[in-house]
This record gives sequence, structure tokens and C-alpha cells, in this order.
Amino acid sequence: MTSGGDAPGMNACVRAVVRSGIAAGANVLGIRRGFTGLMNNDIIEMDSRSVGGIIRQGGTMLMSARAPEFATDEGQQRALETLAAWGVEGVVVIGGDGSLHGALALHQQGMPVIGVPASIDNDIGCTEMAIGVDTALNTILDAVDKIKDTASAHQRAFLIEVMGRRHGYLALMSGIVGGAELVILPNTKIDPPAIAREVRSAFLRGKPHFIIIVAEGAEMEGGESVTTMICRTIAEGGYDPRVTVLGHVQRGGSPSAFDRLLGTRFGGAAVERLLAGESGKMTALQADRIVTVDLETALQTPPQLEEDILRLAGPLAM
Ligand code: F6P
Repeated sequence: MTSGGDAPGMNACVRAVVRSGIAAGANVLGIRRGFTGLMNNDIIEMDSRSVGGIIRQGGTMLMSARAPEFATDEGQQRALETLAAWGVEGVVVIGGDGSLHGALALHQQGMPVIGVPASIDNDIGCTEMAIGVDTALNTILDAVDKIKDTASAHQRAFLIEVMGRRHGYLALMSGIVGGAELVILPNTKIDPPAIAREVRSAFLRGKPHFIIIVAEGAEMEGGESVTTMICRTIAEGGYDPRVTVLGHVQRGGSPSAFDRLLGTRFGGAAVERLLAGESGKMTALQADRIVTVDLETALQTPPQLEEDILRLAGPLAM
């Protein structure tokens, strides 16, 4: 199943699970609409042809959903009944934090499960990358490059809000590779007047633009939007800033080569591990190798931003 926010490359993973499962002699079913489909018996039989042509498609052919009802005992019992009715002996759950918590619950209920991290936010612990991150980053980069063209034509400040509720990976990386002047991450301490002074100083130094990337999870005390607050302060300083919220465009699009490969490797590994009798594990990328880690540990491990990259963000913006 694919579950939670979709991520480009989920289809590559589904394809790999189906084809490597069949090659190993298994019957493969697809659970549609994530845990919602599992609780409502929305199951289809899969064969090699059913995943033909999907490797290059964004979204997920199995569809997805957010399913808070699965956290209840009743929801989990309904899911177990569906699995028993179809004679399911193992499940691969492809998704982000919430979905992997669901995967852990299924494992704890006695159903063999392997989780696969897929979330453009890259907010899953114990893996360097999740499926979809690379494609989303490239989508953001394309937007930042384009916004820079128009920002430079007007010597304007722009705030670009990117996804990432609790983790600033996309904001930090897009800021570095997009050449932003400032990156605001969740938990960054924000001083809007200081930012307005920085904008002024940058334009006085001859910068043609001032690009600020804001992670959507960044909030002022009291829950006010960081983007709104900074924008207002820059405007009060006599400039005329603009705001672009990239939104769900970041989740769509044909997956990059990296995401197709990662999804394929994760899918193949998940099937191998299930057939070897493992459960309660998650596939992970560590030092370019596919490994499996304990799912509960991964969920309890906060995702990290690389220190060397964090240190570079300031000097590179000068
Ligand atoms: O977790 C992935 C993500 O795209 C977040 O970056 C974003 O905050 C959230 O999903 C949006 O969720 P939804 O599509 O349910 O509005």
C-alpha cells in the first residue's frame, strides 16, 4: 500500500514490490487508498502488467489517503479482518511518518510488515533519503531559479514558502542549491527587523534580489505565519516584497532518476526481507547502501540536517 502524502517515486516502489514478489513466487495484492482502503476492503489483484508504464508517473497508482481512524482499535480490527479474508501473509507499507506508525501498529498486531520511507519532507529518522525528496527538491529549484529571474529584474525581495511541517530539509537544501540569501527553518529564531536590515544591506551591496526560503513549519510565537510577518516588516522598511507559496506543486511530477532508483531498490529490499521472515523493519539508505533498520527505532529517531550544510548556509548567501 501507499499511504499519507503521495511522493514521486512511490510508483517505482510499487512496481518493484509487485514484480520482485511475483518473481519470487508470491501472489501480490494492491491495497488501494492506504489504511482507508485496508479498513474498507479496497484490494486489487496485481500482476506484472498492472504496473507497466508507472515508473515514470508521479502520484501513486494505488492512490493514497490520510486515515486517522486506523489509530483506533476498531480500525485496526477491521484492517486485520480484511487481511485475513484475503489470506495476506505480509504487507509493505510505503509512506511517511504517520503511515509508518500505522505499519508499526500492524506489526504489533502480529501481521508481518516492512515499512518503506516515502515523504517529500525527508523527515524519517535512520535513512538519509526518503522516496520523493529528490524530485520535490528539483521542482523547488526550478521555481526558485525562475523567481530569481523576475526578482532580479525588479531588485525585489521574495519569500518562497516550501513544504516541510516539522523538518527543514527542503528549505535548507533548496536555499543552498538555489542560492537564496536567507533560509528559515522550523525552530529558527526569527527577528523580522534584523531581516529587514539584512535586505537593505544586501541591496546597498548591489545584490539584484533577496530570496528568503521559508519552511512551512516555521511559526512565530502565537502561531502567526512567519511569511506574513517578515513580508510586512520588509514592506515597512520601504521595499516591495512578494510571496510565493509553492504548495502541492512540490508533490507532483515525474520522479527523478534518483527517486525511481531509490523506490525500486527499497521495493525489492522490502520483498526480500518479508520473504526472509522479517517484520517491524524499515528499508533505509545509509552511505549509498540499502539496509533495514528497526521500524520503532526509526520512528523515535529525529531526522538530522547535516551540520556542514547548515554551516555553509550563511557564508554562501553573502
Ligand atoms: O508530509 C508531506 C506533506 O506534503 C507536507 O510537506 C505538507 O505539510 C503536508 O504533506 C500536506 O498535506 P495534505 O496534502 O494532506 O494537505
